[in-house]
Amino acid sequence: MSWQQRIEDALHQRQQQGLLRRRLAVTVSPHARLTQDGQHFTHFSSNDYLGLSHHPAVIDAWCKGAQHWGTGAGASGHVTGYSPCHQQLEHTLADWLGFPRAILFSSGFAANQALIFALAESSDTLIADKLMHASLQEAAALSPARYRRFPHNSLDGLARQLGATDTENRLVITEGVFSMDGDQAPLAAISEMCREHQAWLMVDDAHGIGVLGDEGRGSCAQQQVTPDILVVTFGKALGVSGAAILCSDAVAAYLEQSARHLIYSTALPAAQAAAVLASIEIVRQQPEYRKKLSQNISDFRTLCRQQGIPLTDSLTAIQPVIIGDNHRALAIAQGLQSAGHWVQAIRPPTVPVGSARLRITLSAAHSTEQITRLVEALHHVL
Ligand SMILES: Cc1ncc(COP(=O)(O)O)c(C=O)c1O
Repeated sequence: MSWQQRIEDALHQRQQQGLLRRRLAVTVSPHARLTQDGQHFTHFSSNDYLGLSHHPAVIDAWCKGAQHWGTGAGASGHVTGYSPCHQQLEHTLADWLGFPRAILFSSGFAANQALIFALAESSDTLIADKLMHASLQEAAALSPARYRRFPHNSLDGLARQLGATDTENRLVITEGVFSMDGDQAPLAAISEMCREHQAWLMVDDAHGIGVLGDEGRGSCAQQQVTPDILVVTFGKALGVSGAAILCSDAVAAYLEQSARHLIYSTALPAAQAAAVLASIEIVRQQPEYRKKLSQNISDFRTLCRQQGIPLTDSLTAIQPVIIGDNHRALAIAQGLQSAGHWVQAIRPPTVPVGSARLRITLSAAHSTEQITRLVEALHHVL
């Protein structure tokens, strides 16, 4: 079949199944407001959990950074793209999160893939939670290592996989907070199991960093776990973009030699690193943002319970409402949009078939009134 025909068929099939994805140009403003095509909405689909993407100090740091360092890094960090500002961010991250080293990447997707491709060889085994992020699933599947998956958050499933593999190097991979479900991995038990089986543990804490644990150190700090590899991203609670791998001196030195996404890609702009530094400072020094987010999560869950709206057990900012059918999920999201609430319908393959959902995300930027109105609309539309 020609490419032309294959592409047309694939698009048609997606359309029929209610799986067509589209990007809309939207303007996101402070206080969780979003404008699309002249219409105004309250934004319940962002990962900007603390509302820091519009914080004056973060914006100021980025602007001053651009004036001082220029807008772009100009090259890979291995050429001339690594500035004292990047270095300071790496040191700050290592100090904040309690690791010997931090290495910056331009995105969480790149960091995850770089780590797996740099580390995994054919004699190794990767053992991952089934709901792990696409960046990790894809890298694990493409890597030369053996790739095994265990049922979501199942300690028995993980124990079975660890018991069934005997390669010298095994890397267990999970997330701190799962991106589409909002539930948390039992990291303390997983870490203990890894220790018993002499396996390494990698945690992707894209959705936990900044919002959980003392000083916003994330899921691992909250559960008093130090994984061998920790990936944190700057595009969610920190309100900016980019990512870092936290690891030992030896792993960092190895990544500097072999992580292709690091070596062959332009470094993130120094001004962006300056903005991330400002954001981390706020996260560490101002717990009131986390308190407000916790209050909003608790208010949302209480109001939903009162209205009989079925929720999952998630206690984080990600509060999915599972609908099941793709078309129905789309229709409900559309109904919410008509009422002025921007909520995205998430469908397969992002989530398992038959589990299309509204992925409602809460933020410290939401007011109680905005949340109350959303729940009223949700009750009405459901
Ligand atoms: C769990 C998880 N890891 C990694 C990523 C990728 O991070 P980034 O957006 O920085 O590429 C995401 C983004 O959605 C995510 O949800």
